[in-house]
Amino acid sequence: MRVLLIGSGGRENALAWKLAQSSRLKQLYTAPGNPGTAELGENLEIDENDHQTLLDFALRKEIDLTVVGPEAPLAAGIVDLFQQQNLKIFGPNQQAARLESSKDFAKSLMQRYNIPTANYRSFTEPEKALEYIKTQEAPLVVKADGLAAGKGVTVAGTRAEAVQAVEEIMVAEKFGRAGDKVVIEEFLSGEEATILAFCDGKKIVPMIPSQDHKPVYDGGEGPNTGGMGAYAPAPLVGDKLQQKIQQTIITPTLRALQSEGIDFRGIIYFGLMITDGEARVLEYNVRFGDPEAQVVLPLLETDLLDIFQAVLDGNLSELSLKWSKQKAVCVIMASGGYPEKYQTGYQIRGLEEIGRQEDIMIFQAGTKKEQGKIYTAGGRVLGVTALGEEFQSTRERAYRAAAGIDFQGAHYRSDIADLTVR
Ligand code: AMP
Ligand code: GLY
Repeated sequence: MRVLLIGSGGRENALAWKLAQSSRLKQLYTAPGNPGTAELGENLEIDENDHQTLLDFALRKEIDLTVVGPEAPLAAGIVDLFQQQNLKIFGPNQQAARLESSKDFAKSLMQRYNIPTANYRSFTEPEKALEYIKTQEAPLVVKADGLAAGKGVTVAGTRAEAVQAVEEIMVAEKFGRAGDKVVIEEFLSGEEATILAFCDGKKIVPMIPSQDHKPVYDGGEGPNTGGMGAYAPAPLVGDKLQQKIQQTIITPTLRALQSEGIDFRGIIYFGLMITDGEARVLEYNVRFGDPEAQVVLPLLETDLLDIFQAVLDGNLSELSLKWSKQKAVCVIMASGGYPEKYQTGYQIRGLEEIGRQEDIMIFQAGTKKEQGKIYTAGGRVLGVTALGEEFQSTRERAYRAAAGIDFQGAHYRSDIADLTVR
């Protein structure tokens, strides 16, 4: 198969790495990709949001399957565009992608179908939102309705912070049209977990549970990031809880989508809050998580192209997923200053030596290659994933590997997958 992969992050490097293992893969193109994906196929200088150029390329090169990594092209309808030309593309259509692209849509779906989630109200007028805040106790969670590159959520410790968040979103229009509506939620405490699932519209098959670490500093301190590390399978989600999540959240979500006439084919990301053994949905996404993909995909033994094909054909029920018994730990190395302002353009050393180690994978994200050398080019620079038999030694190996990679200002959390401080 000739496959076109869209995106350029660590998630896409992990997807490319997994696709490259498929016996069915003939040629892999990644648009725009990064130096990590360039080692596994050919990178294209096409922006991930330039749908028309992507479509022209897919038609010209007779691409058999296009795989969409990030949410923005899905929310903007790339799947609908490709399908109109009878091209195969993996990911939900624009209507189905609303599960992620509108928090109001997702919350109202959960409410109508009794899927456990935080209580909420949504508002299109800032005055009404501000009045509502006066009647509520802090903490409160304020969310821009639309896509905001992971920055649209404020956990407000005081009413004043909630007011400020509403003003930024609705009055200052910090996220543009994504802030035309605002969702204000009850604050949930507990521990977060991620369950990714393949869905073919009729059947939904969960992957192994994982956990990411969003705050930038050790112990969960500092501002939220896209994710500073992850590990899988998450011990927090044992068999019993997994079953409960299947019954109360995963299956009901599929039924809800079906009842709404939405044919969801792709990935559903369940962002969960676990409180006293009960799970509630914090958010849905419609794609692999990043960095979650960097720990879940290395443990997947089934051919990813077989799974994608089954999702597109509506044949998931005929496939059973195989998982490695190993553990995976991913440490994200970020640019100094991230997630605030940071500088780029520093040379990265040690990639080749460390990347050759057994059961160590380096997935590149914010990097660029110039004259054979790799330089930093983004906030999250790369992910170092280690595989092993148990978490303690696996995380030690991930950290030894990270210590062998060097660039100016590099920083990473030192407590990823540290189960003793959970
Ligand atoms: P979201 O994009 O909706 O998942 O929100 C991003 C992050 O904000 C989540 O991963 C949580 O850490 C936090 N968050 C979102 N909603 C809530 C909530 N209702 N209670 C507590 N934390 C939340
Ligand atoms: N790791 C969180 C996300 O991918 O949205």
